[in-house]
Amino acid sequence: MHFKRSDFPDSFLFGAATAAYQIEGHQFGGAGPTHWDTFAATPGNVVRAENGALACDHYHRFAEDLDLLRDAGMDAYRFSTSWARVMPDGRTVNPEGLDFYDRLVDAMLERGLKPFQTLYHWELPSALADQGGWTNRDTCAAFANFTDVITDRIGDRVHAIATINEPWCIAYLSHFLGHHAPGLRDIRATARAMHHINLAHGMAMTRLRAKGMQNCGIVLNFDHTAPLDDSAGAAQAVARWDAIMNRWFVEAVTQGSYPAEALDGFAPHMPAGWRDDMAEISQSIDFLGVNYYTRHQVTTDTAQPWPHLASHEGPGAKTQMGWEIYPDGLQSFLTRLADDYVGDLPLFVTENGMAWDDHLENGAVDDPARVQFVSDHVTATARAIAAGANVQGFFYWSLLDNYEWAFGYEKRFGMVHVDFDTLKRTPKASYHAFKSAIAR
Ligand code: NOJ
Repeated sequence: MHFKRSDFPDSFLFGAATAAYQIEGHQFGGAGPTHWDTFAATPGNVVRAENGALACDHYHRFAEDLDLLRDAGMDAYRFSTSWARVMPDGRTVNPEGLDFYDRLVDAMLERGLKPFQTLYHWELPSALADQGGWTNRDTCAAFANFTDVITDRIGDRVHAIATINEPWCIAYLSHFLGHHAPGLRDIRATARAMHHINLAHGMAMTRLRAKGMQNCGIVLNFDHTAPLDDSAGAAQAVARWDAIMNRWFVEAVTQGSYPAEALDGFAPHMPAGWRDDMAEISQSIDFLGVNYYTRHQVTTDTAQPWPHLASHEGPGAKTQMGWEIYPDGLQSFLTRLADDYVGDLPLFVTENGMAWDDHLENGAVDDPARVQFVSDHVTATARAIAAGANVQGFFYWSLLDNYEWAFGYEKRFGMVHVDFDTLKRTPKASYHAFKSAIAR
């Protein structure tokens, strides 16, 4: 890696990230059914119809996984607490679920890892999905109650809390493009989910503040958006895509407004009285989490309904996901966020990483492409800091190969290889390289 810990401020945190449904093994410990289980069980949605029932069996192997984080010299661990594990029907408490997170957080602290909790990383309890999920405003209130329950149990020990992970994926990718659960392709459902997911954040923040919680924020995903060519149509497409994907959420949370380029399409479908929610949505946060993976080149396609977009991968090298590798996009987002939206508010790179077709050979995994990827993106983060962005940490996605949603177990993002037959963990070359780079 072309960076070292001493390139960063002393307090800068290096870590890795995971999410509950992607690693835990949802069949264990009395967790309730989620909309991802039903989405995966519907033909054509997920590669080989795989689901998170077993995943990495982190539920039973978490001590070994936390040892891997500690042994790499990481400072922090970003994990999520599954709503459906803690409240199987979204409303009734499962004591076994609370006990699990209690043990998990204690095990992090025993290893000197700062727990960075995410409250919602996508597995909505089916009982709530059956009532309309994120298209139904009641889901926001139920989420605020879940926030209370889990915070009452582990809030005394977590270092930071993010309310929602990647609201764009929860709302647009899942309700407009249909790629994630619940797999809808419906603009009215999308407009409601686009607003309700922000409201869920706001209502959760209100509950966290009522308990005196600090270090609370949200994790947004940003897609570097470039014009496909120098046509006026391409420039207009950039404005529309940037508004839907990037500005909608950050402007709601930091300014209490939605961008006109996105409201153009959504306004007729927004839930009644949405403007009255904007003050709660835009209450102050303590940090902003930034997930960054790639860029897209867009142009206008008038044959398509609103937002009249065609999106293409850029010309650079691609990951196993087919995503273009574009580290400059991370630097430019961190700088843009600081300059245009959050000023000196702490930023964390809460996810950045790549999938690769890794192979275990003679007990080792050589993944030079990932070493280069991490090196380039951490270096891009350092450039953003030098340019004035207050970035306080970097979390690699992901610690383990895991359940990559609609792609099942085929795409490997981990710094640690998982054999999904034996569940054996093998640190890859990138794990060892990261460990050397962040050594004190
Ligand atoms: C974002 C999501 O938060 C995570 O769940 C997913 O696995 C990674 N990106 C990679 O696609």
